[in-house]
Parts: sequence; C-alpha cells; structure tokens
Amino acid sequence: MASPASLFKITPSTNPLPAAEREQKLKAIQFGRVFTDHMAVVSYRDGKWQDAEVKPYGPLSLDPSASVLHYGQAIFEGFKAYRQPDGSVSLFRPEANWERFNRSAHRLAMPAIPQDVFIGAAEALVALDQAWVPSGSGESLYLRPFMIATDPFLGVRPSDEYLFLIIASPAGEYFPQGLKPVSVWASKEYVRAAPGGTGEAKCAGNYAASLLAQAEAKDHGCDQVIWLDAIQRELIEEMGGMNLFFVYRDGGEPVIVTPALTGTLLPGITRLTLLSLAADLGYKGEERRLPLSDVLRDIQSGAISEVFACGTAAVITPVGLIKGRGFEQVVNNNENGPVAMALRDALLGIQRGTAPDTHGWLHQV
Ligand code: PLP
Ligand code: COI
Repeated sequence: MASPASLFKITPSTNPLPAAEREQKLKAIQFGRVFTDHMAVVSYRDGKWQDAEVKPYGPLSLDPSASVLHYGQAIFEGFKAYRQPDGSVSLFRPEANWERFNRSAHRLAMPAIPQDVFIGAAEALVALDQAWVPSGSGESLYLRPFMIATDPFLGVRPSDEYLFLIIASPAGEYFPQGLKPVSVWASKEYVRAAPGGTGEAKCAGNYAASLLAQAEAKDHGCDQVIWLDAIQRELIEEMGGMNLFFVYRDGGEPVIVTPALTGTLLPGITRLTLLSLAADLGYKGEERRLPLSDVLRDIQSGAISEVFACGTAAVITPVGLIKGRGFEQVVNNNENGPVAMALRDALLGIQRGTAPDTHGWLHQV
C-alpha cells in the first residue's frame, strides 16, 4: 500500500531558513513562536477532501466573510514528533489525536477527515522539515493540526467548505520558568464548559472563553486556572491546557487519581497514557469525581502528596500552590515530587526512544 504521505503533492520552499539560522533558533526554543519552513494544507469542497499539499509556510488568504471569522467553527489538535537515538523521527500516538480530532469535528458539525489524510499530512510535513526536529532532552517538534470553516457566507449554518492544515513548531519547556511547580487559581466566577456544551471538544471557542479567567488567575499571582464544574462549582475538572492528577499515598504504593471524564473536560491523550504507565511503574491509576474541598483537606492531612498537570505541550508539570477566594494551599513544599518526576521520565523515555515502546505508541516517520 502507498504510504499516507504519498497522497501529498510536495512543493518545497525556494527560500528555506538557512541552516545556521535554524540552528540558532533551535538553541533557544520558546514554545509556539517559531515555525518550520513548510505546512500541510488540504481543502474540503464538493463533499470531499482534495488538493493535499505540503507547501511553503505562509499566510492564508480568506474571504472576510469566511464563517470561521464570525462564528468560530474551528478545531485543533496537538501532538509531537521526537528525534530517536538512531536519528530517525517518530510521532507519539498520532492515531489518538486523529480520533479526537474527528470527535471534535462531529461536535462542531464539521466533516470527518480520513486517517491517511491526517497522519499522511503529519508524515509528509515532518519528513520535509525533519532538520527542525530538535534532539535535546525534553525537546520535540510540536505539530498543530487544525480545521477552519471557509464558506464566504454570514448565515449561521455549518460551512460547506473547510481547510485542514498542519503547522509545526520546535518545542522545549512549555512554561517559561522551565520545569518548576506552577501555581493555580481555582475559578468560581467563570466556567469553562457546561453539560451538553463543547467541553470535551478541542475547539477554538473553548480557549477564547478561557482567557479572562486566565487573566484573573494572573491577577491573583497564579500561573494557570483550575476549572471547576459549571453546576456546583466544586468538582475539579482540568486546567486551561492540561489535565490534572492527584497522588494519594496511603502508606502503600502511590495511587494517581484524575477527574473522571464527565463530558465537560478534554479527554487528554497524556492523561490516558499516564493511566497506562502508572501500572508499569507499580502505581494504581483511578478516575473519579474530585471535589475541591476534599482535595484541599487531603493535601493538608498529607493523604495527597503531590499534584501535577499533564498535556502534550506541557508534558508533566507539578502544581506547587492551589489558591482560590479565601484559601491558599501549598503542595509538596512547592517542589517537584518523585511520582510526577518518575512518570515524566518514563513518558519521555518512551517518546525519545531511550526506553522500550512496549505499548506500541510510537509511529515512525
Ligand atoms: N485539557 C485541555 C483543555 C487541553 O487543551 C489539553 C491539551 O491538549 C489537555 C487537557 C491535554 O490533552 P493532551 O494530553 O491530549 O495534550
Ligand atoms: C497541547 O498540549 O497540545 C495543547 O493544546 C495545550 C495548549 C497549548 C492549548
């Protein structure tokens, strides 16, 4: 069978960034600021995906009435390509991102994209821009697939035409302070998602709606927001771009507990991966409802020894302080904890090919 990447017409850039400048950029990586020389683009019209191409990275031309600009019919994904010890490059669980992308597409009344188009776009782009995949510890090439509605029409209805793209950006640590615990603000004023809404879809509007609460968190000296459920404003859901885990140590082996998927939080692929990895490390993994007041009580009593966030961009990031109106709770002396770090090492080991990929998560380009 032809490889999915061969579906793509390749139009190489006539002026890629000179190697010395690229190396310079790869020395001081800031998340999401620098993009590779190319992008993958596929159009949807007349009911089918067509014109699959990898071409020079550059601006898009959109009609000012394009429906994405007015009604926000837009979804995205995020996954990473890792340099392997033999110099080759592997994608981490792209099939899981493809599945979630199509679930998001369904929720936003957008067309599904075939697996060979989604993964083929990533393979063709990474193959062409592979000099951009960094090799330092914790470094990778972040891939950002997205789909936008392009119909030039102001009526409120699903668009008939769409663009699917993947752009790529070299990534190091997500937070500018590096691998240090973050502080989080539990927002009772704003909610991210209500039952029946779009919380479990990775759609642009969820992120636009989160920005004011993120600003509120900053005003309170915190790095990130913790979202609570929309009804009781009490059950812990997730963070702005990450899922959460709480490490319970009742004398025995650690139990890593994450909020159950209720339809209002994003089913993170890192979250799912860590639930599997926990068993490899001899930990127990659990998904259940986690009221904020129980969590604060359990941190205070020592029953919870660590809290950490996880996601593709941020990998695993410890949480050192939880604040909200009228309370402030330090976690694990505001230090990186052993369980979070062991899981991070195990995950990065598989991703970077220095530990065996026993779950079959790597997809070689
Ligand atoms: N929650 C939200 C709101 C996110 O944007 C992300 C990032 O993708 C996550 C959780 C973590 O998901 P994943 O591990 O698939 O990156
Ligand atoms: C990711 O981890 O891929 C995310 O999408 C988080 C954030 C950058 C939105």
